[in-house]
Amino acid sequence: MASDIYTKYTAFKQDDLLAKIRTSVSAKRFSHILAVQKTAVILAKRFGGDVEKASIAGLIHDYAKECSDEELLRVIYENNLDKEIIGFGNNIWHGVAGTILIEKELGVVDAEILQAVSVHTTGSDNMSLLDKILYVADFIEPNRRFSGVKKARELAEVDLDKTVKYETKHTLLKLVEKEIKVYPKTIDTYNKYVAS
Ligand SMILES: [Fe+2]
Ligand SMILES: [Fe+2]
Repeated sequence: MASDIYTKYTAFKQDDLLAKIRTSVSAKRFSHILAVQKTAVILAKRFGGDVEKASIAGLIHDYAKECSDEELLRVIYENNLDKEIIGFGNNIWHGVAGTILIEKELGVVDAEILQAVSVHTTGSDNMSLLDKILYVADFIEPNRRFSGVKKARELAEVDLDKTVKYETKHTLLKLVEKEIKVYPKTIDTYNKYVAS
């Protein structure tokens, strides 16, 4: 089955990829990662996405989540990534800078998978099916506990776009409530998928 044995898109077999990721994150994060992978596969099957790409994207999406700020900033500077992200912290960095580390250390070069990882916390104003699958899987995976997750899971049973809309509004409301600076791409996602 495509979700069990990777044949494309990464230089590693699934077991080797799993081992590399397991040693890069905490046990709790690893369990989240596996849950996102499983959820992404379910969503890909439900909405006609590429199951192998969804599985890999789920597995690698938080590879850089536990990197130090220094390490992520080094990646941002050394690779001339958009300097705008510097003011936003790990929540934004681990996706964008993570793609550089993923390409180098996990041998994933597929542009569609890397893009889904890059925007998994923010969305964008031009989300592919894979972007939406990963964005939603990260939000609704079974370990998630927050008010509103039940509603998001119900929406994801039937309509991916409505779930993207719900998730984006929910995320933005939380950021505003906590007076956290909002990354412009999150606003772009809101303008595209929420506002009418
Ligand atoms: Fe993440
Ligand atoms: Fe995640």
